[in-house]
Amino acid sequence: MLLKNKLGLDNEIELAKEEERITKLKAIELFENGKLEKFEVGTFQGLSQIHKSLFEDVYEFAGKIRKENISKGNFRFASVMYLEDALKKIDKMPQSSFEEIIEKYIEMNIAHPFREGNGRSTRIWLDMILKKEIGKVIDWSKVDKEDYLLAMERSPIKNIEIKILLQNALTDKINDRDVYMKGIDASYKYEGYNVYKAEDLKNN
Ligand SMILES: Nc1ncnc2c1ncn2[C@@H]1O[C@H](COP(=O)(O)OP(=O)(O)O)[C@@H](O)[C@H]1O
Ligand SMILES: [Mg+2]
Repeated sequence: MLLKNKLGLDNEIELAKEEERITKLKAIELFENGKLEKFEVGTFQGLSQIHKSLFEDVYEFAGKIRKENISKGNFRFASVMYLEDALKKIDKMPQSSFEEIIEKYIEMNIAHPFREGNGRSTRIWLDMILKKEIGKVIDWSKVDKEDYLLAMERSPIKNIEIKILLQNALTDKINDRDVYMKGIDASYKYEGYNVYKAEDLKNN
């Protein structure tokens, strides 16, 4: 399904390529101009600022809470009906240890507040929390993409796999642009979302 975009593109592959190219440039800009450092750390407000910065030239919904219910694989992300409440609760979750931070990251992933681009923006958000609170970030080049996706799929049920995977990739290179950029690879994504209507849920 093709997302309505500001680029005037009506081809899914072209859009994916352009979106990846533009968001990477935006991510570099965000890092270089110091804007990222000014965003709130560990709240939806901060995540929304990151998402807006990356996607504002591509999608109208950049930085905005989604209005569609979405799922990936067998997993339904937070229902739009509960999304705002969930985000307020996530804002208040503690973030003083590695464990707490990953638990918060997992909840934010379950919320999946945006129509698209949750993976990239939430990984930056995670790194900003880790940086501020424990003086470390994830070296995403040390995280196998397939293992990461499996661990994320598993995380709503059991969080040990993602914790171990990310713990092993911690680095104190917190101001290294290359380390930061590794998390923004859109190729972490492997499929689109299914959009469903509330009525459909009654039938399955
Ligand atoms: N089945 C799943 N269950 C839970 N989380 C998932 C699942 N599949 C993917 N994810 C998470 O969602 C992210 C993809 O979200 P998406 O909105 O497509 O972001 P992006 O376009 O930046 O990759 C992945 O990086 C992973 O963290
Ligand atoms: Mg995606």
